[in-house]
Amino acid sequence: MAAKTVCVTGAGGFVASWLVKLLLSKGYNVHGTVRQPGSEKYEHLQKLEGASENLTLFKADLLNYDSILSAIAGCDAVFHVASPVPSTIVPNPQASLISYFFNVEVIEPAVKGTTNVLQACLEAKVQRVVYVSSVSAICVGPNMPKDKVIDESYWSDKDYCRKTQNWYCYSKTEAEEQALEFGKRTGLDVVSICPSLVLGPILQSTTVNASSLVLPKLLKGGDSFENKIRWIVDVRDLVDAILLVYEKHEAERRYICSAHTIKTRDLVEKLKSIYPSYKYPSNFTEVDDYLQFSSEKLERLGWKYRSLEETLIDSVESYREAGLLQLE
Ligand SMILES: NC(=O)c1ccc[n+]([C@@H]2O[C@H](COP(=O)([O-])OP(=O)(O)OC[C@H]3O[C@@H](n4cnc5c(N)ncnc54)[C@H](OP(=O)(O)O)[C@@H]3O)[C@@H](O)[C@H]2O)c1
Repeated sequence: MAAKTVCVTGAGGFVASWLVKLLLSKGYNVHGTVRQPGSEKYEHLQKLEGASENLTLFKADLLNYDSILSAIAGCDAVFHVASPVPSTIVPNPQASLISYFFNVEVIEPAVKGTTNVLQACLEAKVQRVVYVSSVSAICVGPNMPKDKVIDESYWSDKDYCRKTQNWYCYSKTEAEEQALEFGKRTGLDVVSICPSLVLGPILQSTTVNASSLVLPKLLKGGDSFENKIRWIVDVRDLVDAILLVYEKHEAERRYICSAHTIKTRDLVEKLKSIYPSYKYPSNFTEVDDYLQFSSEKLERLGWKYRSLEETLIDSVESYREAGLLQLE
């Protein structure tokens, strides 16, 4: 049987790079979309095993339909991973400017970009689309139950996201809702996966994605940190899950993908027991953010995940190598 051809959007990003690596290792022909072909930020992709024969990079922007269609044409499946992931919530001295920024830089590419990808998939007769959403599309809102396990039936409250200017969560919720709705309306087979905080080693060498800044911040210390709950999944387990929901015929609608739940103070204690010589935060303020997610639906498909210790060690070693742990 001929090898399948699949497309990964935003191929140079943290999650997408691991997905490209996995797909190449399984013998898929991969079309990867990037915005600036020739840039050194994609050099790691060309070095992946099998890339010279089976990886083709396409210049495509999510907001340019024709560029997306060229990358997707001839593909059996599309993994829509690309999305703007801002690293901080910008303070708001000039609301109109900030809203403009988030509309243009975050919401448009996430929402309109996803519709463009789906429309192109329909036109190119793609068999299945896996959309990478986030638990941000599931659990953000004032009325989340603390006494129940959160599963795929929950959605973030978009009005609340708008009011609190949580534009990233707003964009992921709106994009995922529209993606599943698009599938229902047109018959396109769309499955979404909602990961929590993604940690693990980085493959890219000249860019650092937002979630890979979380542990370095803890290791560098600082005065006071909120003792927030962290829901964590390893990037290698996430890409296994993404491939699983593509390959398992029976997969449908949404899948939460989260492996570990830990308070920040306990995470720091765990890191300290492995790496005692970093600085670490000295104080924590308590916050009431208890929620429990279930990845049971994904586990029923056969998903397995590694230990938190393995993820932490491999992350820290990778950050060391990339020079992310030097004190400023
Ligand atoms: N990391 C996490 O903790 C986490 C958690 C939950 C969900 N997710 C989701 O997982 C996905 C990947 O996240 P990541 O952490 O791997 O982020 P990342 O490293 O920042 O990658 C994001 C990618 O999106 C691409 N992109 C952004 N705007 C684009 C546009 N207008 N047109 C084309 N491509 C565009 C970027 O492409 P260029 O290379 O061209 O700049 C980049 O490759 C996102 O959908 C994110 O919402 C991530």
